[in-house]
Amino acid sequence: MEEIKIVGFGGSLRKKSYNGYLLNISKGLMPENSSLEILDISGLPMFNQDEENSPSVNVRSFKEKIKNSDGVLISTPEYNYSTPGFLKNAIDLASRPYGDNSFENKPVALMSASIGMLGGARAQYHLRQSFVFLNMIPINRPEVFVTMAPDKFDENGNLKDEMTIGFMRQLLNNLVDTARNIKK
Ligand SMILES: Cc1cc2nc3c(=O)[nH]c(=O)nc-3n(C[C@H](O)[C@H](O)[C@H](O)COP(=O)(O)O)c2cc1C
Repeated sequence: MEEIKIVGFGGSLRKKSYNGYLLNISKGLMPENSSLEILDISGLPMFNQDEENSPSVNVRSFKEKIKNSDGVLISTPEYNYSTPGFLKNAIDLASRPYGDNSFENKPVALMSASIGMLGGARAQYHLRQSFVFLNMIPINRPEVFVTMAPDKFDENGNLKDEMTIGFMRQLLNNLVDTARNIKK
């Protein structure tokens, strides 16, 4: 069976980010014949449309990794009831210039963790709106929201909640299955 390559990135730069933990944990939950490469988006510049036709090395490399992947995983917190600015910035960079959208026809799975009771739901739904214009294929189920994150992880970034781990595994299975179907 052909290997399915997923790239992942997150919406938090914090060293002990719960969303960073979710990405790391996802690596160990990937189904057989698939891999997850976590991309470092911390060095990306702020999007400036004057530069979109001559992107920096970092931006070009980010775009190439997405284009060469079979699907995308994003794990994000919610900032002020929406998507963190630097994550939206990374998505904007990879979507441009017009006609060179790296996300075109890529399946995308979303996870979120927050310290609040909704687990980042509002950030996810705002992102899903962008996926429509980006012509991505969102994996709708299961929705993975990690609510009250400080209670769900131990001090080493391990997730203590078996139900969430089960949902993550199912979401990653669905992402890889969809990617495989698109590749056929
Ligand atoms: C600028 C900012 C805005 C935030 N807004 C929200 C919010 O709207 N909803 C929420 O549940 N948590 C909010 N939080 C708290 C985050 O859930 C919390 O900082 C979480 O740990 C961030 O995820 P991370 O651990 O991956 O960095 C906010 C945090 C910051 C720094």
